[in-house]
Amino acid sequence: MLIGSIHCCLNNFFHFGYWFADKLFCLEGSPKSKVQTRLFWDSMSLIHIVVSLISQFYSNLFIFLRPKWEGGEYEGDDKQRFEALCLAMELGAEYVDVELKVADDFVRLISEKKPDNFKLIISSHNYQSTPSSEELSSLVARIQAAGADIVKIATTAVDIVDVTRMFQVIVHCHVPMIGLVMGERGLISRLLCPKFGGYLTFGTLGVGKESAPGQPTISDLLNVYNIRQIGADTKIFGIVGKPVGHSKSPVLLNAAFKSVGLDAVYVPLLVDDLVNFLNAYSSTDFAGFSCTIPHKEAAVGCCDKVDPIAKSIGAVNTIIRRPSDGKLIGYNTDYVGAISAIEDGIRGSQGVGKETVSPLAGKVFVIIGAGGAGKALAYGAKEKGAKVVIANRTYERARELANLIGGHALTLAELETFHPEDGMILANTTSIGMQPNVNETPISKLALGSYSVVFDAVYTPKATRLLREAEESGATVVSGLEMFIRQAMGQFELFTNLTAPENLMRDTAMRYT
Ligand SMILES: NC(=O)c1ccc[n+]([C@@H]2O[C@H](COP(=O)([O-])OP(=O)(O)OC[C@H]3O[C@@H](n4cnc5c(N)ncnc54)[C@H](OP(=O)(O)O)[C@@H]3O)[C@@H](O)[C@H]2O)c1
Repeated sequence: MLIGSIHCCLNNFFHFGYWFADKLFCLEGSPKSKVQTRLFWDSMSLIHIVVSLISQFYSNLFIFLRPKWEGGEYEGDDKQRFEALCLAMELGAEYVDVELKVADDFVRLISEKKPDNFKLIISSHNYQSTPSSEELSSLVARIQAAGADIVKIATTAVDIVDVTRMFQVIVHCHVPMIGLVMGERGLISRLLCPKFGGYLTFGTLGVGKESAPGQPTISDLLNVYNIRQIGADTKIFGIVGKPVGHSKSPVLLNAAFKSVGLDAVYVPLLVDDLVNFLNAYSSTDFAGFSCTIPHKEAAVGCCDKVDPIAKSIGAVNTIIRRPSDGKLIGYNTDYVGAISAIEDGIRGSQGVGKETVSPLAGKVFVIIGAGGAGKALAYGAKEKGAKVVIANRTYERARELANLIGGHALTLAELETFHPEDGMILANTTSIGMQPNVNETPISKLALGSYSVVFDAVYTPKATRLLREAEESGATVVSGLEMFIRQAMGQFELFTNLTAPENLMRDTAMRYT
């Protein structure tokens, strides 16, 4: 499996890429600045200089000059472009990529000149959608017939389900194939490429340097997703959400899998429709999922069986596919993660150890939000003997939840003056204050004076505006990061049946948030 690429826009006319296998780890020490310098020579000098220069440092050189009409930057004529690509081949570039539409002309040009180790990639790009499996298969056949040593097809994901068609085609392709689905919804086509037998995947040197939508960084491919360890037998886990890009679960769970030597990878899954997603990714290779906004409640109805606590909460944040029969079983690890974090935060601030009576017992426990996390906290606080109050943007949902657990409901406006007693506990379970909206807060600083303990489920950033203002008001604060670590440990144990490596997960969470 070959991975890695650098795509450098050298000037307005040329997109230039190269990839390398053996020397990937040299990347950080490579002469990046030289490669990325803007060059203004004509195409032949450019190719001559750059190919000669880079081939001193890297093997497996991969060259393309993508024309505007195929989504690239090259605006010149094909004659000059083909001469440049031909020169690259003669200078030792091992791979040259040309577009299917002009492949016949290029194949004619290089016939009888092809060096032994040279491979021609013939590519097709679709920036709108991903065609049906039949259309993709017939495209593969046309690319093969045009004389490709390697077939390359890049399409666009309108929905994450589109990626399944690309995986299917790669698995059945008889020639080496690069099959990638562009866009955030197509990310798993890039991360799981070795699992399904793709010839290579592309990575960028850094965020903002992508040559196509949705490319991960080389550093994430290697260090977060451990792509070198992914193979046909690797089990896939992932976090299902929308949005999902902010989640640190992939960092945490991949590090934990690696530490126990598990052949598994954990990926972000940007999912619009949970039912469609679970139907499409129904193979036992997809062994388990975390659920986040906005799918936790819908997940209850998608599982074949739901753990009684998750059922009482009305939200599932963990789904495992039971190996014996493939049935989906739903759990909730948010409840224990959040409640134990708040209890330990209070005990820590009071300097007391673990007692049988919960420090939540008898307290007014105000929860902002009535979604998945809100339900988990409401259930947990009630279990611990607190007097639960729910405040939510949609008052109707606050009332439903309050009725369900035997609590009291408020509008967000009423929350501002709600002060039945001192020393109350407040928990934000909305996404207010989450990156990028870090200046937002769900309650005024003035109203925070009524609370002795404030918890925020939001953990990106770690110190939200709510927590900063609560601390300034003299409250004990409990970060959502603590809940995050604890719920992730619970998920790890459900996914693997192993004890979670707590220290490693804590260190990793601290490092990446
Ligand atoms: N630290 C952790 O481990 C952890 C675990 C789980 C969740 N979380 C965080 O908790 C938050 C909620 O997650 P969830 O899964 O419970 O989501 P969810 O089921 O979609 O519920 C979202 C809740 O937030 C409210 N809300 C959303 N945007 C709002 C806004 N602009 N103003 C007022 N209220 C708003 C919604 O009110 P409506 O009912 O009116 O729509 C709903 O009550 C997310 O930020 C998530 O990252 C953290």
